[in-house]
Amino acid sequence: MTETIVILDFGSQYSQLIVRRVREAQVYAELLPWDAPEESVMGLAPKGFILSGGPRSVYEAGAPFLPAYVLASGVPILGICYGMQALVDALGGKVAPAADREYGFAALDISQSSALLRVGDHPQVWMSHGDRIEVMPPGFTVLAKTDNSPMAALGDLEHGYYGLQFHPEVGHTPAGGQILERFVREVCGCQGDWTPESIIDQAVQRIQAQVGAARVLSAVSGGVDSSVATALVQRAVGEQLAAVFVDTGLMRQDESTWVEAAFRDNLGGNLVMVDAADQFFSALAGVTAPEEKRRIIGETFIRVFETAASELGDPPYLVQGTIYPDVIESRAPERGHAQRIKTHHNVGGLPERMDFALVEPLRYLFKDEVRIVGEALGLPAALVWRQPFPGPGLAVRCLGEVTPERVEKLRQADAIFTAELAAEGLLIYRQNQAAEAAGTAQAFAVLLPVKAVGVMGDQRTYEEVIALRAVTTVDFMTADWARLPDGVLARVANRIVNEVQGVNRVAYDITSKPPGTIEWE
Ligand code: XMP
Repeated sequence: MTETIVILDFGSQYSQLIVRRVREAQVYAELLPWDAPEESVMGLAPKGFILSGGPRSVYEAGAPFLPAYVLASGVPILGICYGMQALVDALGGKVAPAADREYGFAALDISQSSALLRVGDHPQVWMSHGDRIEVMPPGFTVLAKTDNSPMAALGDLEHGYYGLQFHPEVGHTPAGGQILERFVREVCGCQGDWTPESIIDQAVQRIQAQVGAARVLSAVSGGVDSSVATALVQRAVGEQLAAVFVDTGLMRQDESTWVEAAFRDNLGGNLVMVDAADQFFSALAGVTAPEEKRRIIGETFIRVFETAASELGDPPYLVQGTIYPDVIESRAPERGHAQRIKTHHNVGGLPERMDFALVEPLRYLFKDEVRIVGEALGLPAALVWRQPFPGPGLAVRCLGEVTPERVEKLRQADAIFTAELAAEGLLIYRQNQAAEAAGTAQAFAVLLPVKAVGVMGDQRTYEEVIALRAVTTVDFMTADWARLPDGVLARVANRIVNEVQGVNRVAYDITSKPPGTIEWE
């Protein structure tokens, strides 16, 4: 069984980050609500617990608390911020409001050496709290302080109990990853068995146990998640899998060709390519409203997919590329969902006819783990590390009416832009800070719903306009426009106007998100 660290969520906005940092140390971690049933938590046989931060105060009535079974389990516990206060409270210490809230950077003054804090002198840490420990529980000593926190870290080393007032999981605490790694490896004794091979083995066993000898259907879109999910299921059940690729006519240049190239070898006759471009274009005829486009594409996709499924004898199982952040986020409706800005109605999404049982092999994986697994499964790098592409495809980048001719212009301009960026090494795929400074996380062309006047070879032209969009971002929630070199922009603009018939002008989008979104529709 995979070594597991359970992270109990007390409602911090950083809880997911703790999971990621632990997994970066090659130790499997799962995030569960602080009040999850004891059986489901202990069923994972945790080698240690981490208690997240949270917005409440432990002394408030009805505040989340540390369940007794966690202490009774006898395994090490690391409390972070609120988690530390909950630990202290449960062990008989005292937590009280601090005279001043502490928020921002602080230098950590390490007063006693411990497995956790062998991280150099005065490392910078990130603080964000309003409460402090007044009385430590019996057996605890102070391990570190800051100017404002006399108990910035404390511990009962004999029991493997640690508390940190600061947040080791955030980027603002540079030694934080190391601290968390020390906790899971040295204090909890994990060896680090969360490797691509073990992730694949575990997924394969789960899939086999779930589907037995039944047939499974998958929709491959060419996107990372559906590709990796399909490859995993194929590894697990081989011939029982059939995959359908629906060419909506709204794909990027050569997309269907390399999806076919990536999967044909392994899936052979079990890969069905459906050319549904005509159906999508006729459904979209005359439609210009973005949400209406998304709705039509979603519906058309379901119809096409259901026809393909019935031709394949309606397999009872359907592969779904749900990833761990979706699982975690769908769990917490009480925390309020961000307002819906756009319907992310994915092509490749779930048919509403719900008599499929879902196979979700990526359910426990973060995006970067999905990519690493994809590589380990031998999928081509171009597929595994590709930039995000909206489910509704080029339709939401073809502003105004979506016709085959307009989409073709857009496709050609987009191919020119991405080819020039790739040639300059300016398209980045890996989440790597150094590359991020120089590269774009997402770059594409947009066809605008206006015409502009130009002059070509002494002739007046009146043609369409392409906008280029390139952004730097880590999480796609906020983004900045990429400061691309002038020379590259000049070359791209020149090529587009010369090579794409019917386009006579190119503009560069210099809007950040917010207030803009990354896509234009
Ligand atoms: P926005 O435009 O909201 O995009 O800033 C954030 C990220 O989401 C992608 N995106 C979509 N992905 N279906 C998708 O699967 C959609 O309808 C959709 N709309 C936007 C967008 O490309 C960016 O990466």
